[in-house]
Amino acid sequence: MSDAPVAAALKRPSVWHNWISLTGAIIAAGAVFSFLFLTAMDLLGLGEKNPYLGILSYMVAPAFLILGIVLGLAGAFLQHRQRRRNPGAAHQSLSIDLSRPRDRWILTWFSVGAMAFALLSATGSYQTYHYTESVQFCGQVCHTVMQPEFVAYENGAHARVACAECHIGSGAAWYVKAKISGLHQVYAVLTNKYDRPIPTPVQNLRPARETCEQCHWPEKYSGSVEHIHTHYLSDDKNTPFTVRLLVNVGGGSPAHGPAGGIHWHMLIQNKIEYFATDPQRQTIPWVRMTAADGRVTIYRSSGFKGDPAPESIRRMDCMDCHNRPAHKFQSPDEAVDEAMYLGRIDASLPAVKRTAVDLLTRKYATQAAAFQSLSGGLSAKYPGARGLPAAITAVEGIYARNFFPEMNTDWSSHPDNIGHLDSQGCFRCHDGKHTAAGGGPKATLAMDCNSCHTIIAQGSGADLTRLSSLGAAFKHPTVDIEGMGMLCSDCHNGKNQDN
Ligand code: HEC
Ligand code: HEC
Ligand code: HEC
Ligand code: HEC
Ligand code: HEC
Ligand code: HEC
Repeated sequence: MSDAPVAAALKRPSVWHNWISLTGAIIAAGAVFSFLFLTAMDLLGLGEKNPYLGILSYMVAPAFLILGIVLGLAGAFLQHRQRRRNPGAAHQSLSIDLSRPRDRWILTWFSVGAMAFALLSATGSYQTYHYTESVQFCGQVCHTVMQPEFVAYENGAHARVACAECHIGSGAAWYVKAKISGLHQVYAVLTNKYDRPIPTPVQNLRPARETCEQCHWPEKYSGSVEHIHTHYLSDDKNTPFTVRLLVNVGGGSPAHGPAGGIHWHMLIQNKIEYFATDPQRQTIPWVRMTAADGRVTIYRSSGFKGDPAPESIRRMDCMDCHNRPAHKFQSPDEAVDEAMYLGRIDASLPAVKRTAVDLLTRKYATQAAAFQSLSGGLSAKYPGARGLPAAITAVEGIYARNFFPEMNTDWSSHPDNIGHLDSQGCFRCHDGKHTAAGGGPKATLAMDCNSCHTIIAQGSGADLTRLSSLGAAFKHPTVDIEGMGMLCSDCHNGKNQDN
């Protein structure tokens, strides 16, 4: 009995023996475990598609390690202070004696807790890793920043394709790039230093070969695809005007259908490179084509001499035409035409096309301000009309899906390169003004209206049932554009034509 205090004083337990330090040690061990686990995933290439794995393994796990160490030190410090103040109470510190039932009980539960914690931190970090790869994380965590792209994405053909499939793809090199840019993006959002709108095109976006072509097979034969565009003029009667075209998409492989069409020329037969003078790649004065047999032809627009620096030349791929496959912002003109065609806006309301487009084209500071003005404007113009409530809902819906004032994002900041009506699109090169030195049969890039599509019907009512199999010349509904030498986008810009 009298020996006990002496023994205790001799074998005075270390200051580290306390519950706080022990908890710290377990947190630290969990963090080291998660770190090793995430790093192993990283090295094995399992996390290649995830730019945020780096944040988890090199930032979050170490933060927990530090927390564990701090807890450990704090426990030791408190223990040390307690002993100095109260030297007699040495055996209050942790001493485990398995012959005591209470100690056995505590130890059992402590071990169970520690194991559960280690397991949770492993599954937790694994789940977090998956979460950062998800559409929800990419599209919604940085809410305002990504909202335009996210909303447009949810309304597009790729709504089921994860952001990472197009924006990161697989492979170690791009993974590292994405990791660095992911960190940079988190920094930009935290410090509120991001561009509004987010600039387009995305610099250094991964080539389509390694993203789009993982799902889409360039050799696929699509043949001619019918597209029907229904428009309404901005007169009082909202006169309808429809164009039915067969777009000659074609295909890329003689083994799977006749070689020809848009995809054949652009993707398989020729390698096409170009130089643009603006960041949005809308002005293209220089185009180089390398044919399958190695012949090189350079097309220059009038006024451009010489060749651009090699590093500013871009090789054309899917995204130079399909630049908005997942994030298309409709123009007011296009969106109102669609809503009228679908009956969401009553086409018998006088001049509703013009009114709705006018209201949508104005600048608003916030969505709330826009909604107020849209419903106010329509109510003032059509008081008591039967179609009014539906028209308000439809126009507000158009605004919510396509206009993002907080990010300065809409159709005009992010033009679509397919077609040539509201922006130059194909006519960036096929404008009849890009010529090759030396002449020859293909001295000018094709601008023949039938090289990309055939118009099979146009107009309204009975006109639309009279199909022309050879293709009709386009009959412009209001002005005679024949021989004017103007591009469609010289007049059309997605708004009403006279403002
Ligand atoms: C089908 C492929 C695809 C998917 C899926 C996709 N994107 Fe994109 N994204 C693109 C292309 C192509 C561009 C335009 C690139 C260019 O013109 O260089 C783009 C551009 C962007 C831009 C730059 C701004 C702009 O509008 O051009 C952001 C931001 C963006 N995407 C975010 C997302 C988010 C968030 C998701 C998931 C919710 C997503 N993307 C899903 C293909 C895709
Ligand atoms: C993960 C697979 C996947 C990837 C990657 C992908 N797509 Fe798609 N894409 C699809 C699917 C599936 C559809 C068909 C959707 C449907 O018809 O419902 C589609 C449809 C399309 C269409 C037809 C759109 C329409 O409105 O009918 C185009 C054009 C297209 N993709 C271009 C691209 C481009 C360009 C890229 C690269 C930036 C790309 N896709 C990347 C799976 C993918
Ligand atoms: C020279 C421009 C151009 C290039 C380059 C291009 N496309 Fe297209 N593609 C078109 C046009 C024009 C259409 C017709 C549909 C439209 O207007 O949206 C189309 C249609 C499609 C369709 C829909 C076909 C269907 O059956 O309805 C898919 C899918 C597609 N392209 C994928 C791709 C992929 C993948 C690439 C890259 C390997 C690519 N395109 C490259 C211009 C292009
Ligand atoms: C960067 C410049 C550029 C852009 C943009 C571009 N093209 Fe082309 N296109 C070319 C070149 C170069 C050729 C090859 C011309 C030749 O065969 O001599 C070509 C050829 C074609 C051909 C074959 C024409 C023929 O001679 O019969 C079609 C069809 C075509 N392009 C469709 C499109 C469509 C549709 C778009 C828009 C979605 C588009 N192109 C956008 C550069 C461009
Ligand atoms: C380089 C290829 C190319 C050439 C040349 C071309 N177009 Fe087009 N055109 C397109 C594409 C691509 C679309 C969009 C097809 C779609 O998405 O439905 C289009 C769409 C159209 C539309 C429908 C627009 C709408 O929204 O209703 C008309 C009308 C049209 N073109 C007329 C012409 C006329 C007239 C010419 C000759 C001056 C011409 N095109 C030359 C590629 C071309
Ligand atoms: C000189 C200016 C001018 C040129 C060039 C021009 N348009 Fe138009 N276009 C107009 C005007 C003005 C209207 C009537 C707009 C309205 O009533 O809302 C119109 C109406 C249209 C419409 C029906 C309604 C609408 O606004 O969508 C289509 C489709 C159209 N144009 C296609 C084209 C195509 C395709 C080209 C190029 C081949 C072209 N236009 C070139 C001025 C022009």
